[in-house]
Amino acid sequence: MSLPIVRTVADLRAAVAAWRHQGLRVALVPTMGALHEGHLTLVRHGRSMADRVVASVFVNPTQFGPSEDFSRYPRDEAGDAAKLAGAGCDLLFAPTVEAMYPAGFSTSIEVGPVTRRWEGAARPGHFSGVATVVTKLLLQCLPDVACFGEKDYQQLQTIRRLVADLDIPVAIEGVPIVRDADGLALSSRNAYLTPAQRQTALALNRTLHRVVERLRRDPAVVDAAAAEGMAALLAAGFEAVDYLAVVDAASLEPVERIDGPARVLCVARLGGVRLLDNFPV
Ligand code: PAF
Repeated sequence: MSLPIVRTVADLRAAVAAWRHQGLRVALVPTMGALHEGHLTLVRHGRSMADRVVASVFVNPTQFGPSEDFSRYPRDEAGDAAKLAGAGCDLLFAPTVEAMYPAGFSTSIEVGPVTRRWEGAARPGHFSGVATVVTKLLLQCLPDVACFGEKDYQQLQTIRRLVADLDIPVAIEGVPIVRDADGLALSSRNAYLTPAQRQTALALNRTLHRVVERLRRDPAVVDAAAAEGMAALLAAGFEAVDYLAVVDAASLEPVERIDGPARVLCVARLGGVRLLDNFPV
């Protein structure tokens, strides 16, 4: 069966209101399309938490920097719709840029300290774009639950913060990273890698795993474990490591030793592609 698609906020709200009228719970899975198994896991997770699942596909221009890949970001609405239907999604919300940002649009959301380091420092304006569009999507759909992947861990923590700060009545569900059989975290941007680069990319998951093992054995060796991890990535063939950091799992501030929930965050570059991965400690 083909998936119903709505393109306006009014049509989205009418569909969700009809479900609510029947007493059904609704989950939202926001995406930028180019869907892979990681996104479909979010849909299945939404399905397990609610009676109906809405997915949004919107390549949000405001979260891309001027030299980033907005125009070449992969787009395949028909393919995405078929995958969503197969995963148990009930409705696709695919607004146009004009519907999302009509002439005169001028509001943006700044979430504060959790956005400043790491991806926030590397991509000025990125989290403001994400926070603004996610706030809009949540208010447009008003779901009971919204699902986001832990792959973009800083994004997830940013969304948790904004939902708490703005009293948006939705439960945010973080869903663990989905990996290929060889360990590479699934990402729409993996499509940019050559086969040889993809082989090299496997060192990212392996290295972070080793860093976590080392920290489990000795919670005080944070700096040494991170430095060794960076050296291992460069030795494996990565062109650069933007950061490999051990941080508090909620605030994302660097920690000096492991004495509570922490996360290893890493971005390393290969063939001009920034590959993100992270592990809980
Ligand atoms: O993670 C993404 O795909 C995007 O950042 C999101 C949350 C859909 C906002 O555009």
